[in-house]
Amino acid sequence: MMNGRRVLLIVGGGIAAAKAPALIRLLRKAGVAVSPVLTRAGAEFITPMTLSVLAGEACQTDLFDASREAEIGHIQLSRNADLVVVAPATADLMAKMATGAADDLASTLLLATDKPVLIAPAMNVRMWHHPATQRNLAMLRRDGVLMAGPDDGEMACGEFGTGRMAEPEAIMGAIRDHLGDGPLKLLPEAKVAAGPLAGRHVIVTSGPTHEPIDPVRYIANRSSGAQGTAIAMALRDLGAKVSFVTGPADVPPPDGVEVIRVETAMQMREAVETALPADAAVMAAAVADWRVANASGQKIKKDGSGQLPVLEFTENPDILAWVSQLGAGRPRLVVGFAAETHDVIAHATAKRARKGCDWIVANDVSPATGIMGGTENSVTLITADEAEEWPRMGKDAVARILASRIAEALA
Ligand code: C5P
Repeated sequence: MMNGRRVLLIVGGGIAAAKAPALIRLLRKAGVAVSPVLTRAGAEFITPMTLSVLAGEACQTDLFDASREAEIGHIQLSRNADLVVVAPATADLMAKMATGAADDLASTLLLATDKPVLIAPAMNVRMWHHPATQRNLAMLRRDGVLMAGPDDGEMACGEFGTGRMAEPEAIMGAIRDHLGDGPLKLLPEAKVAAGPLAGRHVIVTSGPTHEPIDPVRYIANRSSGAQGTAIAMALRDLGAKVSFVTGPADVPPPDGVEVIRVETAMQMREAVETALPADAAVMAAAVADWRVANASGQKIKKDGSGQLPVLEFTENPDILAWVSQLGAGRPRLVVGFAAETHDVIAHATAKRARKGCDWIVANDVSPATGIMGGTENSVTLITADEAEEWPRMGKDAVARILASRIAEALA
């Protein structure tokens, strides 16, 4: 799945640099090419030679060698990769990234890249909890930087707390989440049972609704159900019990979830009500705003008189707003979607407030983006305190990352 992809791996200065070789081995085993870059501080912990040998490519270390600049093309280096991984990401590297400082090779590459960046922070627990690091972290999240770890545990310095770098296998999992643009694969039951969402119930709505005009005709929209289906699969792969309430979508519903098929918005509302209670609800369906009030029980006939049928409309229930505003039975986390064609963040932020949901996943579906009906998505996650612009990625990758954020929020 990741075969043929390339990761630019920046190794910062910290004892966790010792785990870089294991990460390189895992990447190479998965068929991923690795361009290693070592910071000056990183070189105190591990040699460029070790990284070069394992990666099978020269490890870059020095920016200020003008003669080599022409050969290597550092900017190019940062753009040839599919993903930039910083492991370990020290407090210092995070600060540089957050402010856009570029005074060495690693920070210059991070400023020059137009590719998604994933960091695996590693530092002393006090440095991690320092307001400056937390501020930088919030900034990086807002910039769409992806994260793996840090873990809790004993530190090299003897203290205990948050700040240990995630294990190479976990970083690899996060990389797979991102680079694995291929179809989501259902994980085996045993693996799922131990996932972070095990024991949680999540309702996902997906697809369009069909609003009948008569027994053979209906009003619909172009939603394919692809993003909602991917989200249901990703949640299930993290161990959640998923109630998947779907309108008549183009893509088949996933295995491993409870599928509840509906046609109309009214039926979708009822199905959601029946599926409650839930820990979280993700409303990805494109629910019709109106239904035909004077739908006919019999096929409307063209009787030759030249008289045209007149449709009257009535408003459908807003399922997202209804779930968001439930009292006692409200899921702890309610996520809505907003497809916009302009002023995406402003409109989606207003929608979040209006509907009363916790998060809105907003995307720009203006025709120029090619997102509608495509395999990629470019979303902004709007929460109570910020708008995070995620890099453009496959719909499956969006689903995996959203699912892991949901797991974090419910933890
Ligand atoms: O208001 P708008 O349709 O743009 O909002 C989109 C969000 O609201 C989506 O999450 C969609 O699933 C949800 N929605 C709903 N019921 C409706 C209309 C929209 O749940 N009747």
